Amino acid sequence: MKKSVSLSEEQLQESMWIEIIRRMETIYAELANNQAEIERKNRELLQAQEFTENILKSMVDALIVVDSEEKITMVNQATLDLLGYKKEEIIKKTAKMILASPKEKRRPFNESYLSKLKESSIQDLEIDFKSKSGEKIPMTLSSSVMRNSEGEIIGVIGVAKDLRETKWLLAEAAATEAERTKAQELERAYKELKDLQSQLIHSERLAVIGQLSAGVAHEINNPLGGILVYSHLLLEDLNVDDSKRANAERIIKEATRCKDIVKRLLDFARQPQPKVEPIGINVVLEETLSLVKDQALFHNIKITKKFQPSLPNIMGDRSQLQQAFMNIVLNAAEAMDGKGSLIIATDALPDSRFLEITITDNGCGITPAHIKRLFEPFFTTKKAGHGTGLGLAITAGIIERHKGSIEVKSKVGKGATFTIKLPMETKGKSWLSCLF
Ligand SMILES: Nc1ncnc2c1ncn2[C@@H]1O[C@H](COP(=O)(O)OP(=O)(O)OP(=O)(O)O)[C@@H](O)[C@H]1O
Ligand SMILES: [Mg+2]
Repeated sequence: MKKSVSLSEEQLQESMWIEIIRRMETIYAELANNQAEIERKNRELLQAQEFTENILKSMVDALIVVDSEEKITMVNQATLDLLGYKKEEIIKKTAKMILASPKEKRRPFNESYLSKLKESSIQDLEIDFKSKSGEKIPMTLSSSVMRNSEGEIIGVIGVAKDLRETKWLLAEAAATEAERTKAQELERAYKELKDLQSQLIHSERLAVIGQLSAGVAHEINNPLGGILVYSHLLLEDLNVDDSKRANAERIIKEATRCKDIVKRLLDFARQPQPKVEPIGINVVLEETLSLVKDQALFHNIKITKKFQPSLPNIMGDRSQLQQAFMNIVLNAAEAMDGKGSLIIATDALPDSRFLEITITDNGCGITPAHIKRLFEPFFTTKKAGHGTGLGLAITAGIIERHKGSIEVKSKVGKGATFTIKLPMETKGKSWLSCLF
């Protein structure tokens, strides 16, 4: 009986050992499994680390991590390249080392930037970094606060972008803009000079034409007077039924026309200075119209007056201005071939010392090529013997001597508008009068 017990103990022991070995085998297997798992995890970790390092290395922007005590704990290669530090020179150093003093000098350094960074995430803060050599580098910084699972701040991670190239590009753009403006100014100045030059040439030409005209007109005037006197005497001597009367009358008609042309030439050539007095422009226009309106040419023309009633006076020469407006009005009637609408308007220009007179017709209009030559003496489109081409040259001279301006707008087939601006009399005295 006893033997059977010891045997069973042996058996028991053996089975225990078997069990222990089996369990140990299981544990070894588990350990081996765990080991493989750990190795796999390690490999994954290494891969992840390598991946992160690659990202950090390939980042062009600077990445900086600081702990809660503002000590730098991590930087990428871009930061080292930017600031010129070696890794060991920067890690565990205070972030102050790489920041230039902010412009707001009044506030303590930590309070201004670093405390701001720790308060909350920020975006695109313009900030100056300081390199190892002391160079200030303008950057924009975006940062995020890092917290642990309890919500305590454990640091700040920031990414900063070098602004030097952007600033350089902006400066370049500004310089290009400045150059462009300068070029435009030069171009404008050149154009002004050209205009002045052509004005001078024009005035010079006008002066020469004026002298020439005056000389010729003077020389012609006396013999012309003689022709007229003697042709009248001839006509008086002829009987009413004499067939030669028609010839004598023709001589008188043509000589009178020549006299008119000579008068016009002398008007143009003499161009006397205006004898100024305070005058109302509406009155001058009324007088001009009353001089022409009974002529046959105006019988079928509807004249509309749009006069501003309470206009200040101007300092002007009444008869010269009448002559100026008459030339424009006659041209308009001729352009409408004696039928159409003529609108004459006056107004004071807002915020200006000028009165404006517009004379609009709905005649044949003027081509752009003709508009350019309109005020040239002797420019005419009329048939020979019908126009001297001096009307508008005389008008322009008169307006110019009144320190005013004249311009024309026209559409061929629709009509033309002449706009004249004349300086107003201010405080009882026109500044124009100071010029005479
Ligand atoms: N309102 C207008 N519509 C169309 N053409 C015009 C008008 N005013 C002037 N012109 C053109 O301008 C030209 C020059 O006018 P300007 O008054 O100087 O001379 P003219 O009328 O030809 O001759 P003059 O006035 O000496 O008799 C005219 O021949 C005509 O072609
Ligand atoms: Mg004319």
